[in-house]
Amino acid sequence: MTQPSGTPTPQPAPTPSRSMPDGYFHTMYAHSDDPWGFTQRFYERRKYALTLAALSAERYHRVFEPGCSIGVLSAELALRSDQLECLDLSPRATALAADRLAVYGDRVSVRTGDLVADWPDGRFDLIVLSELLYYLDPHEVDGVVERLSDALTPDGEVIAVHWRRKVPDYPQSGDDVHDRLIASPLHHVAGYSDADLRLDVFTVGPRPSVAQRENLVG
Ligand SMILES: C[S@@+](CC[C@H](N)C(=O)[O-])C[C@H]1O[C@@H](n2cnc3c(N)ncnc32)[C@H](O)[C@@H]1O
Repeated sequence: MTQPSGTPTPQPAPTPSRSMPDGYFHTMYAHSDDPWGFTQRFYERRKYALTLAALSAERYHRVFEPGCSIGVLSAELALRSDQLECLDLSPRATALAADRLAVYGDRVSVRTGDLVADWPDGRFDLIVLSELLYYLDPHEVDGVVERLSDALTPDGEVIAVHWRRKVPDYPQSGDDVHDRLIASPLHHVAGYSDADLRLDVFTVGPRPSVAQRENLVG
């Protein structure tokens, strides 16, 4: 079994392209239907629990989850979404995610594509960036970060969650990408970090807290 999601078993490095070697993820899914142990590890269950607990709304209308992998977090997000749009580079991963998420019918769509090249049109109430941005180079991350404000509804939020430990295969660390997000014009509303992972939530601008929305405070 591989390490938790930040640390896959090193794969042979084919021809380099962009930020990760060509075929890196395809090779991983050719060896396993769950290369990071999303369905097995407590690390992953805990990460998902932290992620879901940090979301400030009980339900969202339109949600985008790039890098959805085999759809384990997606299945939890589907319970809180009217429409969930999942995307992943790997056709094997999206086939497995589509099977797992079929129970949600046309409320959930799963597409094979690249976060950078195939960013969807329109605005989202929630964008989930979980264990994804450190696969991009810094320039590409800046491009994604620039897109976020225009891709969110006025009340929309972005949650980013990344493994913090060093992975030699990856162009950036989790802290690198979170530092870029923190330095962006997005409004930082919540954060959590420990030795293993970092989680941050952003909105386009200031908005009422959960307690304010429920009239618990003035
Ligand atoms: C470590 S998994 C994360 C899965 C899930 N987000 C989670 O946290 O459980 C990373 C996934 O991102 C996908 N991925 C990597 N680069 C991508 C890109 N540029 N566009 C879309 N998906 C990408 C990989 O194929 C892989 O399935």
